[in-house]
Amino acid sequence: MPIKQIDFGTKEYHQMTKLRNEILRKPLHLHFAKEELEREKNDILIGAFEEDKMLGCCLLTRIDKSNVRLRQMAVQNNLQGRGIGASLMNFAENIARDSGYKKMVMHARKTAVGFYEKLGYNVVGNEFIEVSIPHFVMEKKLKF
Ligand SMILES: CC(C)(COP(=O)(O)OP(=O)(O)OC[C@H]1O[C@@H](n2cnc3c(N)ncnc32)[C@H](O)[C@@H]1OP(=O)(O)O)[C@@H](O)C(=O)NCCC(=O)NCCS
Repeated sequence: MPIKQIDFGTKEYHQMTKLRNEILRKPLHLHFAKEELEREKNDILIGAFEEDKMLGCCLLTRIDKSNVRLRQMAVQNNLQGRGIGASLMNFAENIARDSGYKKMVMHARKTAVGFYEKLGYNVVGNEFIEVSIPHFVMEKKLKF
């Protein structure tokens, strides 16, 4: 299963927004605003593929010199639980390290906290609501 970085505005990017919409937004009756997507121009965009089909995705947004935020982690519904999410995280952590970041941070959905804990992330702080559902800030120091 090839995992690769993809470019903003390409065919792969449109596959990515479609997947994110299906998995992360539609179930909450939400959608992406154009301005929200425009801000992704400078993000590191990542997709897992099988031939031309996108199986899962995530992206990295710079916070500052040392910290980067993982966002929009999503795996196709019928393919969850097969290691795709963990492989995407491994790839994202390697890119973050190579880019010089020291810490990965995320707003994790409460339902996904167990997934990130398995990968060494810790909850910091209290539960809060984002996109209408409970979340926690989670983080992990990136080992070199
Ligand atoms: C959360 C998500 C990205 C995980 O990806 P995945 O491909 O299903 O996960 P993996 O198969 O790589 O799982 C890795 C490990 O985490 C565990 N795991 C997966 N999802 C989990 C969850 N929601 N809660 C607890 N553990 C979970 C798996 O059982 C597996 O454990 P193992 O190593 O002991 O076998 C995926 O299920 C998904 O897209 N969910 C819906 C959208 C979502 O919640 N995104 C995250 C937003 S913060």
